[in-house]
Amino acid sequence: MDSLVPLLLKIRGLFTLWLLLLLSPAILASYSIGVGRADSTGPTAEIVFMGYAKMDQKGNGLHLRTFSRAFIIDDGEERFVFVSVDSAMIGNDIRQEVLRKLQIQFGNMYTERNVMISSTHTHSSPGGFMLDVLFDLTTFGFVRESFDAIVNGITKSIERAHDAVVPGRIHIIHGQVLDANINRSPQAYRNNPKSERDKYEYDVDKILTQMQFIGADDKPLGVVNWFAVHPTSMNNTNRLVSSDNMGYASILFEKMMNNNTVIGKGQFVAAFASTNLGDVSPNTRGPKCEFSGKNCSDQYTCPGIKEKCFASGPGKNMFESTSIIAHKIYQEAADFMAAQVQALRQKGRN
Ligand SMILES: *[C@@H]1O[C@H](CO)[C@@H](O)[C@H](O)[C@H]1NC(C)=O
Ligand SMILES: *[C@@H]1O[C@H](CO)[C@@H](O)[C@H](O)[C@H]1NC(C)=O
Ligand SMILES: *[C@@H]1O[C@H](CO)[C@@H](O)[C@H](O)[C@H]1NC(C)=O
Repeated sequence: MDSLVPLLLKIRGLFTLWLLLLLSPAILASYSIGVGRADSTGPTAEIVFMGYAKMDQKGNGLHLRTFSRAFIIDDGEERFVFVSVDSAMIGNDIRQEVLRKLQIQFGNMYTERNVMISSTHTHSSPGGFMLDVLFDLTTFGFVRESFDAIVNGITKSIERAHDAVVPGRIHIIHGQVLDANINRSPQAYRNNPKSERDKYEYDVDKILTQMQFIGADDKPLGVVNWFAVHPTSMNNTNRLVSSDNMGYASILFEKMMNNNTVIGKGQFVAAFASTNLGDVSPNTRGPKCEFSGKNCSDQYTCPGIKEKCFASGPGKNMFESTSIIAHKIYQEAADFMAAQVQALRQKGRN
């Protein structure tokens, strides 16, 4: 874990820069911007998923392919790369390998100083890529196929973003998405001082923040947004590789903007990136006892010996729940973009 500390400090440094971007005026003009996407789906069979740490949760098929989405922002002095990849987490070894590959092609343009890699935290993609005993225990060690798929996906997405750089600007918008996330530990939350709780309307964050990238020619290039929710609509019985609710939302957005083209194609790139999602669940029906259906949100246990307590919903099964949560978040994000496109059309007519 020691090696994580300098990495975290570095990420924090970049994150501060990122926050500065967020806090600046709503329209940030005159950048060079590039967006790119590449497939990162690893082995879809026989490999234990990363997330639930359940050794019998091995892949046996595919629900939704996973992708890496890259965004390059350059203000003429400095270049910054943000990547969001559909995976459970990102480790230092993945990052180092991506940087090594980028160095071969681009020299010192992309280094640990300006490349930030984030993962959506889906719990349904193949594990074994962290090179750390604790994280790779459930996969019984390193899985080269998982590692390579993620590294190659990230690298390719950055290459594509690099090749797509054009002049553009950035718009930042905030909205609210209701009924798409709940607090996983409301009893713990209630231990916070009342004076603090009184500052907030809800016991989880409902704000969606979106950065919209628009070309100098007014063509929409892509978006990155952040909404706090775990990509765990697909539960720990799922054995189909999936990007879960966040990946699904990306696919919906990209489909809309890319003239309904097939999944993973089209120039417009939309990342639904991870943010303050700790203890935030998408399973909005809340924790219930498996058989009695009784609310078990206080103790997380049920009276029977074998009866489990787990959260689900809002759909009738995990596939429907994934779709419902994805559509809710997508809808808010898409409305912002639609409003922007509308405004650009008006401007064009004037
Ligand atoms: C979608 O189709 C329209 C009309 O055919 C075209 O103007 C636009 O550039 C297309 N957009 C993308 C992202 O391919
Ligand atoms: C479950 O019960 C707790 C109180 O024991 C309550 O705060 C919570 O809203 C209930 N959840 C649901 C989904 O009914
Ligand atoms: C997972 O979802 C399926 C429905 O898709 C349900 O049958 C199962 O009980 C759920 N299990 C857990 C542990 O959430």
